[in-house]
This record gives sequence, C-alpha cells and structure tokens, in this order.
Amino acid sequence: MFWTLYSYAYDAIWDSPVSTALAQRIAEMVGATSSVVSIGCGTGLCVQRLDPNTVVGVDISRSMLRRALSSGRIGRGVVADAKETTLTAGCAVAVVVANVLHLHPDPVGVLAEGLRLLCPGGRLVLSWPTDTADVNTVAATQRALGWGRSRTLSALTVSTVVGVLGLGCRVTRRRSEDLEGMIQRGAQALSLETVEEGLVVGLQHILVLQRKCDRAEG
Ligand SMILES: C[S@@+](CC[C@H](N)C(=O)[O-])C[C@H]1O[C@@H](n2cnc3c(N)ncnc32)[C@H](O)[C@@H]1O
Repeated sequence: MFWTLYSYAYDAIWDSPVSTALAQRIAEMVGATSSVVSIGCGTGLCVQRLDPNTVVGVDISRSMLRRALSSGRIGRGVVADAKETTLTAGCAVAVVVANVLHLHPDPVGVLAEGLRLLCPGGRLVLSWPTDTADVNTVAATQRALGWGRSRTLSALTVSTVVGVLGLGCRVTRRRSEDLEGMIQRGAQALSLETVEEGLVVGLQHILVLQRKCDRAEG
C-alpha cells in the first residue's frame, strides 16, 4: 500500500541530480552488458543510464513498475519480492540493488537471491543511504548540484509528507551502521568478493560485489 502511494510522488522527489549521480555511478560499475536485473527497481531511476532493453526490473509494487516501463527506463517488469524474484538462476551479468536493502526485513536473503541470479563472474551492485541522508541534507545537496530553490522546496515538501505517511504505515528503515555489518557478514558467507566501495555525493554508499568464477570456467 505504502509503495503504491509513494509511486505517485517518487519521481517528483527523486528525478533529480542526486539520482542522476547515483545512476551514473551504477552504470559505470555495471559496464556494457546484455542482462541486468534491478531488484526493487522502483520507477527505474537507478538504472536510467543503462540500455533499457537489457534491464529487467523487479519490484513488489506494480505501480512502481508501471512507471519504470512507461518512462522507458526498463525493458521488462516482474512483480515479486526482492528475496524471491522468480527469475531464472544465472540469468544476469549484473544485479543492481539500489535503496532497497535498508528497507527489506531480510537483507542477507536479498543478497542470496542476487547471487542466485548472477552468472559466474557477475556483479552485484548495492547502494543504500548514509545515516546523514535526512531530507534537509538531501535538499541541500540537490541545490548544490543544480536544482533551483522552488524545485528543491517542492521536493522537500512532498518528501516530508511521504515520510509522515511512511511512519503511519510503519515502514522501517535500517541504519546504515547496522546494515553494513549485515552486508559484510552476508558477503563473506556467500563467498562474494568486494570489487569496489565508496560514496556517491556523500549521500549513498555504493558497494560492488562479484560472484566467483566457477573453477571449471577458469
Ligand atoms: C526507495 S525505493 C528505491 C527505488 C529504486 N531502486 C531507486 O533507487 O530509485 C524502494 C523500492 O523497493 C521496493 N520494495 C520495497 N519492499 C520490497 C520488497 N520486499 N520486494 C521488492 N521490492 C520492494 C519499493 O516498491 C520501491 O520501489
């Protein structure tokens, strides 16, 4: 219910310089490839710099996916839980999980599903907000990256309303500090190798993990 309501406001808040910067970094981490799965893809902003024909979006919200498809940011949409996408094992060269792990009740289960979807040597590109990414800091960053005053103010207002709605719907958001430990332990248990980690515009952690190549495939 919350995600369906949020889908109506999502691009008004997030079709922005911050999302463009994140999408650009994700595209650099994914590289040129023929098959990407974006888990919890929302309206597709996080994969907007990829070739949409190569991207399958998975989301629990049909309404989010409808927007991702109609904006032409993804080629196909699948309504499913992040932990159980129903897609074929090994179907993806890259799996993007942007801004989802901190919201999901079982982040390590989502990592395991991402790993299941990857072909050997494939990349899992994760991002999640820093603990300092509150509405005011996000607004200040959008402004610094080029948004005008009124655009920033309208996004801030809508974002605040959505935040209140989220509280009412009891949407819980895990702190980055806690999530990082869970991801590290999960990656170790799943034998995923870290390729790269960093920050995007000071608001988003980004972590790229790689599935080991099977011995037979070198
Ligand atoms: C904060 S948005 C991020 C959207 C997009 N990845 C981005 O970065 O712009 C979180 C997305 O995760 C989806 N979502 C929430 N819980 C989910 C779940 N259990 N399984 C799949 N998708 C989920 C929501 O519908 C929403 O589209």
